[in-house]
Amino acid sequence: MGEFKHLVFSGVQPTGNLHLGNYLGAIRKFVALQESHDCIYCVVDLHAITAQLVHDDLPGQIRSITAAFIAAGIDPKQHIVFNQSQVPQHAELAWIFNCVARIGWMNRMTQFKDKAGKDRENASLGLLAYPSLMAADILVYRATHVPVGDDQKQHLELTRDIAMKFNMDFMAKIRAAGLGTDIVVGDEPVHAYFPMVEPMIEGPAPRVMSLKDGTKKMSKSDPSDLSRINLLDDAETISKKIRKAKTDPDALPSEVEGLKGRPEADNLVGIFAALSDRSKADVLKDFGGQQFSVFKPALVDLAVEVLAPVNGEMRRLMGDPGYIDSVLRDGGARAGARAEKTMKEVRDIIGFVQ
Ligand code: TRP
Repeated sequence: MGEFKHLVFSGVQPTGNLHLGNYLGAIRKFVALQESHDCIYCVVDLHAITAQLVHDDLPGQIRSITAAFIAAGIDPKQHIVFNQSQVPQHAELAWIFNCVARIGWMNRMTQFKDKAGKDRENASLGLLAYPSLMAADILVYRATHVPVGDDQKQHLELTRDIAMKFNMDFMAKIRAAGLGTDIVVGDEPVHAYFPMVEPMIEGPAPRVMSLKDGTKKMSKSDPSDLSRINLLDDAETISKKIRKAKTDPDALPSEVEGLKGRPEADNLVGIFAALSDRSKADVLKDFGGQQFSVFKPALVDLAVEVLAPVNGEMRRLMGDPGYIDSVLRDGGARAGARAEKTMKEVRDIIGFVQ
């Protein structure tokens, strides 16, 4: 039995400002993974035009995600950072996957239903096919591990369904061409060209909730800017937002159980824990019995201490778009070479003359 070489791939859409939820939930995880894995991190600009075609400043958004990756500590030399549209093989494989996936599979995607809303007939065809492009992003590198949030789990299951159908439909050709690896899926031995990707959802990443409503996720689309901490917020803004964050009148509990039914308290303690790499229980050992008037200033100090360097470096990089573009071009060239190797094999397997 063989095994696919471990490779991490993830993508972030260049829409809206990055906030604390993106940082703690995704980017910080990306940084940690580069110690142990070969990693490819992609700014998915082709996905950005599925929900809305025309953007005010798409180049600025693409550069700002790239700057955030680098400022947070991703090493674009050791690993790969690039924007999706510079590697046309993503779109090419997505087309093939459009012919592998079934319309019924796409219609079941909850994110499509949410984003398309009531007027489904008027959603772009690209929005419906979004998961097929996401599968192509990952599988064009035959990546095995994908750090994502909980909301992307269904898309990764679909990625496995696409990989499985391709492997099954072409198994004889894959074998005849001397490609692929023997793996076991469930109990079944399969000769697979594409790996069965694994989500990396677990880990210390907290669900970061809105500062104005502890039951809603922190989101770039919330109309109130006070609901989120943006990665580009300066110290004063961070301080103001935390001071104005919604709380309840009680003191903090000394045990995690005491946070039940107190979503805002739970969220702020969770943010403190994540920013200081501690557990909530540990944070409550220090702050149990204290009022928010004591806890909030401590959280401000911590948030500023952790975020200010990222913020400063991000601003510095944004002032040098030439450098950012050179990182993306270099990443795109290296990613493209790997993607083309896969596509040559895929074109062969399908039977395209080349
Ligand atoms: N759909 C992902 C999101 O909205 C972004 C994305 C696109 C992605 N392609 C990907 C994530 C491939 C992981 C792997 O968060």
